[in-house]
This record gives sequence, C-alpha cells and structure tokens, in this order.
Amino acid sequence: MPTPTPVVLDCDPGHDDAIAILLAAGSPEIDLRAITTVAANQTLDKVTLNARRICSAAGIPVPIARGCAQPLVRPLYVAEDIHGASGMDGPSFGSISVDVVEDHAIDVMHANMPCTLVATGALTNVAMYLQRYGTTAVREIVLMGGSTERGNTTPYAEFNIYVDPEAAAIVFASGVPVTMIGLNVTHRALVTPAVVARLNALGPLGRTCGELMTFFAATYREVFGFDAPPLHDPVAVARVIDPSLVTCVEAFVGIETTGTFTRGATVVDLQGRLGRTPNARVAVDLDVDGFFDLVIDAVARLT
Ligand code: BDR
Ligand code: CA
Repeated sequence: MPTPTPVVLDCDPGHDDAIAILLAAGSPEIDLRAITTVAANQTLDKVTLNARRICSAAGIPVPIARGCAQPLVRPLYVAEDIHGASGMDGPSFGSISVDVVEDHAIDVMHANMPCTLVATGALTNVAMYLQRYGTTAVREIVLMGGSTERGNTTPYAEFNIYVDPEAAAIVFASGVPVTMIGLNVTHRALVTPAVVARLNALGPLGRTCGELMTFFAATYREVFGFDAPPLHDPVAVARVIDPSLVTCVEAFVGIETTGTFTRGATVVDLQGRLGRTPNARVAVDLDVDGFFDLVIDAVARLT
C-alpha cells in the first residue's frame, strides 16, 4: 500500500459532509490529520457541533478546529432548507466525546502542512489560509463546489461558491493545483434506496448514515424534485483516495463575483474559448459503483 495522503478536511457538516468525514477517516489511503469547520450549511457553532457529533458516533479521534464564522465580505447565507435547523437534522446523536482544539482552523492547517486540503464547504478558511501562510506548502486543493452546468442555489451558482465567491476567486487564482468536483458529477452520486439498505446493514453507525440520508432524501425531493439525494462532498474525498474514479480535464475556471444574476457562478471554459491558461482540473465523470463501494467499505471499517 502506498503512503497515505495527508489531508486536512475543511467542511460544514451537513449531511454529505458527515459522510465525507467518515470516508476520509475510514480509508487507509488517507491520513486524516485534522477536520476544520467553516460556516456555510449552518452557522459555525452548529456545523462544529455536527463535526463533533459524527466524530463521536464513529470514534474518530482527529483534532477538530473552528474556522471562519462569516464569508470574507458578505453576510452568511445558510442552507437550512436542505440540511435543517441543526445543519444535520435526522438522527438523534448520543453523547459527545470529542472536543475542539483551541487553535483557529487556518493555524491547524498550517501545522499539518505539507498536505492536501479537501474543502467541502464555502472556501473562506482555505482563502484565509492562502492569504496568511501562502501557497507553497499546499500540495493540492480538492474542492466540492461549482458546476460545468447550472447551479443549485441560483440558476448558475452552486451553494459552496455562492456563499463566498470572493474566497473561491482567491483559491482558483492561487496557483495551487485545484481540483473542482462540481454538481455536473456529484449529481450522478445518487443515494438510492439500495445504497441506504447497504448502509443500514452495517450496524449502528451505518444506521445513523441511513437516517442522515433519509432526511437528505426528503429535502432533496421537496426542494429539487430529486428521486434520490446526491452525495456531493464524499466525491471530493474519493478523488483523493482513488483518482481513477473521478475523470478530470484541465480548464480555466473563472468565478463570477459581481454578476447581476450570476454571482457565484463557476465559468468553466471547457473549449478554451477565453484563451486563458487552465487553473483547475475539473471533474467530468464518476465511476458511481466504485464510489459507493468506497463509501460502504469506509463506514464498515469504522463500525
Ligand atoms: C454543497 O452544498 C452543501 O449544502 C453540501 O454540503 C455540499 O457541500 C452542494 O452544493
Ligand atoms: Ca458541504
């Protein structure tokens, strides 16, 4: 087995972020150094509590550090319609056995460099890190956000980019190798009843995942009319575990920060029409079965 990839997972749990944490912690290909939290799906207090909840339920001992409570320049916009009032509605969690460390998320990132940053929330912490500590120690940024197609928060903006487009612009312009896992791919990772049944068969932790996915399915049905909810964030983790599962192409990605109707849009120049040097690897395809096998195996290892 090759040396595990050192990773700091920056997230806003969030139903799919919770599964991303389990996938990272339960996969031997990843050395999960720390979990950092950022306000987006819900307030910083709520998403940090949720990170502690899922880590306690799964016995994950990695440090958890709080990051930014607000986007760089805008008021916070949360996804209560998708993730509920707690940010991770559905299961009732037991007692919490893991605390947060005192250091700020960006200092914890710094302490764990060199590593890969996997970002599954707004990019506020990552942009703050790059501005404070520079780019050289970051091996790669693999982020769930954006789309080559349409958005899910406005017609052209995906939620994570919409919440903090100025941070996203900093990340994409940073020169660090960036891999963008957008809705065009994550909308193929649908948690069907068959996937929920596989999770439920794994014991208490699997049933907690099943309950998370049942709540997520209900909001995705109500808000978007989806038959099954997309497991966005774990696809970014899967790309680190096994890059062959997520096909990517190099492209220039511009972030719309001032559009009248398009703020937060990722303008992905797949045909090179803008004549700009590519600044990202952009996911365009996913081995769906291979992806869900990784998720199930990881949860099984933690059970
Ligand atoms: C992204 O938005 C959040 O609600 C999810 O956790 C995911 O990171 C999908 O657009
Ligand atoms: Ca997320």
